[in-house]
Amino acid sequence: MSHTRLSLLTPSGHLTLGNYLGALRPMAAQQDDATCYYGISDLHAMTTAHDPTTLRDLIAEFRVLMLACGLDPTRATLFRQSSVPAHAELAYLLECTTYVGELNRMIQFKEKGRGRPMTRASLHTYPVLMASDILLYRPTHVPVGDDQRQHVELARDVAQRFNLTYGPVFTVPEITVPPAGARVMDLADPTRKMSKSTREGAGVIRLLDDPDVVRRKIARAVTDSDTGPSAVRVDRDAKPGVTNLLDLVAACTGTSPEEAADGVPTYGALKKLATDAAVAVLEPVQRRYAALAADPMYVEDVFAAGAAHCREVTAPVLAAAREAMGL
Ligand code: TYM
Repeated sequence: MSHTRLSLLTPSGHLTLGNYLGALRPMAAQQDDATCYYGISDLHAMTTAHDPTTLRDLIAEFRVLMLACGLDPTRATLFRQSSVPAHAELAYLLECTTYVGELNRMIQFKEKGRGRPMTRASLHTYPVLMASDILLYRPTHVPVGDDQRQHVELARDVAQRFNLTYGPVFTVPEITVPPAGARVMDLADPTRKMSKSTREGAGVIRLLDDPDVVRRKIARAVTDSDTGPSAVRVDRDAKPGVTNLLDLVAACTGTSPEEAADGVPTYGALKKLATDAAVAVLEPVQRRYAALAADPMYVEDVFAAGAAHCREVTAPVLAAAREAMGL
């Protein structure tokens, strides 16, 4: 069977090194042997209080950054979710296939909204829209970071239930998570994932951060007070900060965290290593970003053509779902 890959990113903040290592880099690396749909989930950025001007700016930045990260419009279809109305329509049909109990169990909902009366209804139903994003394209593989596993699992459950109840409309996709970089942690709090929506952001490396900013953030990264001769080592329970820096070096350079620790004498040396590794990954992305940002019409055309293609390929899938449900 030929492969189809699909993944989206939400413009809820500036893209981070976590987004790159966990999703964008693997997405870019997998464009040759598959049909790829890579998108901006702009509708998902409105599930918590948002500012329209900021959202518009972030969408513009995402479009350029996705190209700068190596997503290639000659090999992948690049699009914006809100340009393809079928996403919202199928989401409603899938809400009629999803249980409230399933949505209540979603970790992100539990953390960000459950039990608060002002929580937007869209935060609760967001995983159904995400299932719609996925199932509309009948992908075989969904490359994501580790934090999206539960949502893709739900999409699989919903697809299976729909197919059993109404007939075989959807493909049940596999989740693919990269071997390194699937969960990059916050430098200031290594028990929490690096997130683009973290307000303060001292422990979050953004793709467009200057090398100096990267250096400063890594210099302030939390470690521990161990000064022994083997202080620089992997120990996920006792040394989460040090292990996070080693994971970061490993994911950026393609080694293992244990190899990355080899011969590194001090935390100062480890931080220098991590800074060099992160800057080396960001530098080509930032260079391409600057070149692409100078050509907004090209970027506009890529996403307009992508959306047109998406509207075409999703129409028969939506029609099959409607018909199977009796509409
Ligand atoms: P989002 O925008 O939060 O994240 C985009 C991608 O980046 C990955 N990621 C990380 N990987 C490693 N370490 C981190 N610290 C880290 N933070 C984020 C995410 O796992 C994701 O792959 N709901 C999704 C977007 C979405 C989607 C979809 C994804 C909407 N529809 C359909 C796949 C298929 C989200 O908000 O991801």
